[in-house]
Amino acid sequence: MKIGDLVRAAEQARLKARAPHSGFKVGAALETRHGKVYGGCNVENATYGLTVCAERVAAWKALSEGESEFRRIVVLADTEELTPPCGACRQILWEYCGDIEVVLANLRSARTRFRLKELFPFPFDGRFLIGE
Ligand code: THU
Repeated sequence: MKIGDLVRAAEQARLKARAPHSGFKVGAALETRHGKVYGGCNVENATYGLTVCAERVAAWKALSEGESEFRRIVVLADTEELTPPCGACRQILWEYCGDIEVVLANLRSARTRFRLKELFPFPFDGRFLIGE
């Protein structure tokens, strides 16, 4: 899939954000190895702490449908400076999606790309639990 199409999917997902507390709406679009796209938006709640980011919503949707191989994710917010995934999302993306491409985008056509490994260079993951 072309990056532009994936960015548009993240834009559409962002429109569904439930962010009454922060007002900060985020959209994500996670592409599988076979080109299927799962959108996600942030979903906040009144206790704040149970909020789930757009990236994790997209990941939970894809994983709960049985997907296991991923190519890239777009993270999109209406910010001049591009919005990166939070630490918790980096951990989850690393564990379930591996070293995918992470594309950051905004509503004004700015984009930049990373490998997840660049954003999360020294991860703790299941390899450390072997021999538990
Ligand atoms: N948020 C995301 O959904 N993804 C990010 O990459 C950064 C932060 C959400 C969580 C919360 O609903 C709001 O943005 C403010 O932190």
